[in-house]
Amino acid sequence: MSVSQQVFLRDAMRRLNLTRDIFATRIGVKRRALDTWLLPEGSQEFRSMPEVVTRFVTEIVENDSLLQKYAQSAQSGPLRDRIAYQGKHQLLSVDQFSRESVEELFRVADLMQPIARRQKVSRVLEGAVLGNLFFEASTRTRVSFGAAFCRLGGSVCDTTGFTFSSMAKGESIYDTSRVMSGYVDAMVIRHPEKGSVAEFAEATNIPVVNGGDGPGEHPSQALLDLYTILTEFSRLGKLLDGAHIALVGDLKYGRTVHSLIKLLALYRGLTFTLVSPRGLEMPDYILEQTGRLGHTIEQTNSLAEGLKGADVIYATRVQKERFVGEEVEGYTADFQVNKAMVDQCCGPDVIVMHPLPRDSREGAHDLSVDLNHDSRLAIFRQTDNGIPVRMAIFAVLLGVEGLVQHSLRDVTWSPPSHLGPDDSVFHGLD
Ligand code: NCD
Repeated sequence: MSVSQQVFLRDAMRRLNLTRDIFATRIGVKRRALDTWLLPEGSQEFRSMPEVVTRFVTEIVENDSLLQKYAQSAQSGPLRDRIAYQGKHQLLSVDQFSRESVEELFRVADLMQPIARRQKVSRVLEGAVLGNLFFEASTRTRVSFGAAFCRLGGSVCDTTGFTFSSMAKGESIYDTSRVMSGYVDAMVIRHPEKGSVAEFAEATNIPVVNGGDGPGEHPSQALLDLYTILTEFSRLGKLLDGAHIALVGDLKYGRTVHSLIKLLALYRGLTFTLVSPRGLEMPDYILEQTGRLGHTIEQTNSLAEGLKGADVIYATRVQKERFVGEEVEGYTADFQVNKAMVDQCCGPDVIVMHPLPRDSREGAHDLSVDLNHDSRLAIFRQTDNGIPVRMAIFAVLLGVEGLVQHSLRDVTWSPPSHLGPDDSVFHGLD
């Protein structure tokens, strides 16, 4: 087995679409044994999987992939060619993905976990330079894209805001993009106008990643959100097919939910409850695209109604900076996702997510901090997942994902075992 046991098993379960319990039964082992095989090597409870199990699982997966290959013909060539945007290795929209290609990307993200968790280092992008062009406020997207590139051995050049860029002198998107292409090997762009990143991408042949184009899309966020949901569900023994997802808040301007609902719609038989204040509902074009795929979509203005029985609660911030004559002022108290509401409407297995930042100022009624010590709150597991997923995006777009496994070396320093004082015991381990 050339990849780690953890990567191998997670990939097998995803491909077979089996929960841990069912997978354990199928290969004839105890769930507890499977759990210990799924831990990162080096953790105390980790156990090596017997060779015979490796061979057995390989056989099942290969059989299954053979069947799938007969069913879907176009499954060949490098991943970056299959997700290409107008023939270029760029990531502008989640529409570029199928369920198979997104899960292939997640296999690469799993490979990146030892690097993201500071157990290993890699230099597969040594010499490459990333241009981070952010014309809108950002903390985590800009820094995590930069950190992801650096952790693969590359380096990063940043520009933030219009004021300090030549766009303030009237330079066009075309010129800026073409000029940057001579300086860097890949670009991540965030810009306040919908469609603007596609315009950047048109003016260059180097990889471009959409870091958020106004109220349009935020594909890398949706990818890390989906990766988080699948990872959390794996721990909880749930499948995404048939799950109930509640999206809460500013669904009109929130680009993260625009991308996320389309990406989730690649799975089967989901129920979406869309909870938003009047006037901030999900745009029709996204509802139509998702509805065509046979999912159940319910819209409501009542938080309690929308959260009832949900497997995932995904809260969002009011995007006030994008308001154009909206009547709404923001959230009233009855839109706040807090502990009392989660206890009242959902079970112990729900996960609470948010793309962050959450507005923690008094009166904002964004996701409450009273869930901070509650292990159902997955927001920091979600942000931590931003690193392996963004590393995977770069590795795939630059075509080096096949080099990662053999490039790994041990780190020279010792990071803390838990990054945050409130992290749950399973944070980062599963
Ligand atoms: C989001 C964004 O910029 O769209 N933040 C992020 O990238 N995680 C959400 C927001 O700003 O509310």
